[in-house]
Amino acid sequence: MKLGKLKALAKERLPGKWIFFLNVLRTLAKGHSAFIPFKATYNEDGLACSKNTPFLEDARFVAAYGNAVGKHLYVDANVRWRCHVACWAGSMAMQLEGDFVECGVNKGFLSHILMDYLDFDRSGRLFYLVDTYQGFDGRYLSATERSRLVDYASATESDKPWEMGMYEPCYEAVVNAFAGFKGARIVKGAVPDVLPEVQAEKIAYLSIDMNCVAPEIAAIEHFWPKMAQGGVVLLDDYAWPGHEEQLAAMDAFAQRAGTKILCLPTGQGLLIKH
Ligand SMILES: C[S@@+](CC[C@H](N)C(=O)[O-])C[C@H]1O[C@@H](n2cnc3c(N)ncnc32)[C@H](O)[C@@H]1O
Repeated sequence: MKLGKLKALAKERLPGKWIFFLNVLRTLAKGHSAFIPFKATYNEDGLACSKNTPFLEDARFVAAYGNAVGKHLYVDANVRWRCHVACWAGSMAMQLEGDFVECGVNKGFLSHILMDYLDFDRSGRLFYLVDTYQGFDGRYLSATERSRLVDYASATESDKPWEMGMYEPCYEAVVNAFAGFKGARIVKGAVPDVLPEVQAEKIAYLSIDMNCVAPEIAAIEHFWPKMAQGGVVLLDDYAWPGHEEQLAAMDAFAQRAGTKILCLPTGQGLLIKH
């Protein structure tokens, strides 16, 4: 019987899992690596993988994460790998001189975990937490961002102003949540207007997470010259679907700055000042 006929017959008669198994054997026989099905031990925030998450056994990380969850500071409480990346970036930044900045804080989930994890106050640095604490500023949105927010408000039949998006006013909550950190400096207002209020001369860690392109580019343009050599910039939305304008604008910025952004499996982007 010809090979083609044999294949057609197998397809017709054999159950799907046998076809899959035979294909794996055929791929291995050809010397290629085969896709081996795995049981995910980590499956959240759009990322599934198996047995490569030692940070989940790190007691300091688990405690810091648990504290922020306990204070209800999250938008989504299942973003542990993203927070692990921030903790790594923050740990590297602690080796350098300079303050920390986050633009796009909301209730402070990421930054609270980081300050806790790093025992930040022992370093004597400042951590600037910049946000409107009441959602987006319509003056700084692109046409696409604006219409997405307007559509979201009407689809959810929200009675909040459309600029609020999925967020709630949260300034007082953030003041309370960070009251225990001497180094926290809460800056309320829209980026780019309030950028001069961040009085850091040198910055070791910058997190950008405002979900809108113009303020994010204004922030990185403003802070890049102040970044310490080896300083880390973390871009929360970099490769996420729906954030293509940010991706294109950040890549263009990186090119102007003579550098390149590392795209992480979490969808974050990572940039080191050299
Ligand atoms: C995705 S949330 C930040 C989440 C935060 N990093 C966390 O750990 O939970 C985006 C935040 O960006 C803020 N934001 C949006 N546009 C802004 C602007 N032009 N200036 C300052 N904050 C802005 C919103 O108020 C919102 O709190």
